[in-house]
Amino acid sequence: MNVVGIDGDALGDSLKRVQREVDSVFDAELPLPSDTSARLVEAMRYAAIGGGKRVRPLLVVSTAELFGVDRDAALRAGAAVEAIHVYSLIHDDLPCMDDDDLRHGKPTVHKAYDEATAVLAGDALHALAFEILADNDTSADPFVRSELIATLGTASGMKGMAGGQMMDMVADEEGVEYDLRSITRLQQLKTGALLAASVEMGAVLGRVPPEGRAHLRAYARDIGLAFQIADDLLDVTGDADKAGKALRKDQSQGKQTFVTLMGVDKAREQADALVDQAIAHLGSHGREADTLRALARFIVERDR
Ligand code: IPE
Ligand code: IPE
Ligand code: MG
Ligand code: MG
Ligand code: MG
Repeated sequence: MNVVGIDGDALGDSLKRVQREVDSVFDAELPLPSDTSARLVEAMRYAAIGGGKRVRPLLVVSTAELFGVDRDAALRAGAAVEAIHVYSLIHDDLPCMDDDDLRHGKPTVHKAYDEATAVLAGDALHALAFEILADNDTSADPFVRSELIATLGTASGMKGMAGGQMMDMVADEEGVEYDLRSITRLQQLKTGALLAASVEMGAVLGRVPPEGRAHLRAYARDIGLAFQIADDLLDVTGDADKAGKALRKDQSQGKQTFVTLMGVDKAREQADALVDQAIAHLGSHGREADTLRALARFIVERDR
């Protein structure tokens, strides 16, 4: 039975379309300069164009679609979230963090270029995200632009991705023992915050008042947690060729995850339950929310 009303192929098509569209936003935003800063832009293009699944942009676009938002505007907001995500991956792979050589099936930025270039490419993608959101092409309404900027800023910084990455990095220190509550918080910050911001930004573009966003926030919170559990399951059970990155690393690097805490089977049950719960939060929407439903399933069933 196809409970979500959209099959895997339809979702695959939606992802492919957004992948192409996000690539063209980055292509337009990242023209190569003719001076020696070109190396920076080359590295940004190397990391940002092609490769990723583009789950975050599809979340922005699919949420915005519920409220009739112009697709190009939603894509710009989606590219802004993706720029933050790509920067977070470049830094996450650095030797001082997870020390990885492979991402999206090719050498990581510090391997293809060098560490200084990787740090700067991350910095510049971080800045690019806010340049895109501050531009009139994203929204003609300055209040909408400022809310988009505030939402993405909060999700990226100390109360979001960077804060979660800090918790993740100290997890291997002696005496740091996370319980279920702390791991949930770590995951919600490190990964959940940007996914939640993606949904929120779709609603901001659609001028949905905060009280009308509660069910979308509940959906986003559940898929955010499920997404990182799925990533941690992939680390233990996945195929590295398909994932395009090194796996079987979390335990040896002292990471603390749902999988290290409760084991593979319980973690998978938890992820599946979160997806059911996420889909239940969309009950007030009809077929127009089918992409969001299918995306929730995809998040835990994916192999990369
Ligand atoms: C990987 O994110 C890192 C996490 C936040 C778990 P994705 O799985 O979305 O990465 P790509 O961009 O699609 O490769
Ligand atoms: C990364 O989590 C989360 C980020 C904020 C980048 P992981 O370190 O588990 O992501 P992968 O496994 O390297 O993609
Ligand atoms: Mg990491
Ligand atoms: Mg990593
Ligand atoms: Mg991982």
